Amino acid sequence: MRRSVLAAIAVLVSVGAGIAADDPIKARKELMEANGKTTKAVVPMMKGQAKFDLAAVQAALNAYIAAAEKAPALFPVGSEKGGKTEALPAIWMNKSDFEARFVKLGTESKAALAAIKDEASFQANYGPVLKNCGGCHELYRAKEK
Ligand code: HEC
Repeated sequence: MRRSVLAAIAVLVSVGAGIAADDPIKARKELMEANGKTTKAVVPMMKGQAKFDLAAVQAALNAYIAAAEKAPALFPVGSEKGGKTEALPAIWMNKSDFEARFVKLGTESKAALAAIKDEASFQANYGPVLKNCGGCHELYRAKEK
């Protein structure tokens, strides 16, 4: 128990470095950008356009796990406006659904981290994790213009 808590903190610290808690909009965008960056390295592997790289896949899943744990606290009431946020008001009307989606992302990322050992298990297990990203953005993030 104690060890897993410490391990979780270590991941949070490495991914969360530089995130200012007093600016939740900036902090959550940085967290999401980290998700986006690591995902960009992995998507070509899914399409067979890049060589399978287990370390990059694990780095992406660890970024998702850290984001899933940190993100819910970065949507406080009052942060729906100000800054250049794409967060939609629906978040604050459906807070429990929104937060449950982060829990699901974390749980499925952890399961995928344990399941993915090679290219075949990567192809079988990675896609479903990514559905969590699009599923939440569809409802709670403004569309890109
Ligand atoms: C539970 C909801 C939720 C999940 C799950 C989620 N996101 Fe997001 N994401 C958001 C919201 C809300 C924003 C807009 C934040 C803002 O602008 O304040 C966002 C913004 C982003 C951005 C833009 C960041 C920026 O600089 O504006 C990227 C990239 C991104 N998400 C990638 C991902 C990836 C990749 C995943 C999956 C691993 C993911 N997200 C999972 C809710 C979610």
